[in-house]
Amino acid sequence: MLFWIDRAAASSAFMPPAATETASRVDSLYMFLLVVSLLACVLVIGGFIYFAFKYKRRTETDKTPYITHSNVLEFTWSFIPFVIFMVAFVWGWWVYHDMRTAPSGAMEIHVYGQKWSWEFVYKSGKRLSNEFYVPVNEPVKLIITSKDVLHSVFIPSFRIKQDAVPGMYTSLWFKADKEGIFQMFCTEFCGDQHSAMLAKVHVVSKEKYEDWLRNDPYKGLDLAQIGEKVYQGRCIACHAVTDQKKVGPGFANLLGKIQSFMDGSSVTVDENYIRESILNPNAKVVSGYPQGVMPTFAGQLAEQELTGVIQYLKSLTNQ
Ligand code: CUA
Repeated sequence: MLFWIDRAAASSAFMPPAATETASRVDSLYMFLLVVSLLACVLVIGGFIYFAFKYKRRTETDKTPYITHSNVLEFTWSFIPFVIFMVAFVWGWWVYHDMRTAPSGAMEIHVYGQKWSWEFVYKSGKRLSNEFYVPVNEPVKLIITSKDVLHSVFIPSFRIKQDAVPGMYTSLWFKADKEGIFQMFCTEFCGDQHSAMLAKVHVVSKEKYEDWLRNDPYKGLDLAQIGEKVYQGRCIACHAVTDQKKVGPGFANLLGKIQSFMDGSSVTVDENYIRESILNPNAKVVSGYPQGVMPTFAGQLAEQELTGVIQYLKSLTNQ
């Protein structure tokens, strides 16, 4: 058929490579709509130009012939669009139904959005920030929620999108048929670091996935390196490792520094202050920064990760 254009050509022209069967089906439907729209555009605009010349008044006495209606013509130009619209409706419903109905037995991963990072929690309890792993050719269901404001999960290569709503669970499913690393975006404006709220989807072979599941992500790392990994996953959107001001204060040379707060008090930065700032961030708000911006990380970081962050901040301090 005319609109059945090669999958690779279609996706490279408009969208990132299609990595699921659903994505290819979405692309085919879009290609159909695009081709039909182009044909309709050529017919309407072409007819408009043709008739403008054909019935142009050529002399002062030139009269437009009296043309009455044509039942055949009117039926044809109503019936053909009707058929096209019904095709688009049925085809669209069919793709939408399948993309919203997760197959039973799909592997479940919980996804939490929070200003401004993504957290992924597996059945085994394994947690990850800003990246997650899935096996190729297996259906995966994402159960999505938000800890603060509206966010939205969008994975362009899978052509799927779903809001993350505080106080309720929403879901998405996909079955990646290509191995590789695919970008996930937050696609609901959620504050000034919205554009930094990114994650990577790693699609790997079944064997690699099993290996990864068993593997301790912090194996062979010392505390400061664990802290650096946590920083890159959870803190980087708002805190620089220099003393540059982002959403929150920079992390360079914090230890031993005298930090003053909005309420006029101050402390010398030590392990206790850092720990409190991670678990109860609004207890002491640094002068020049608004109250209530940083979410709490209580219950989200293991003790080892918390200590790791403290150790990492120490390593950013010139002794
Ligand atoms: Cu989260 Cu935009």
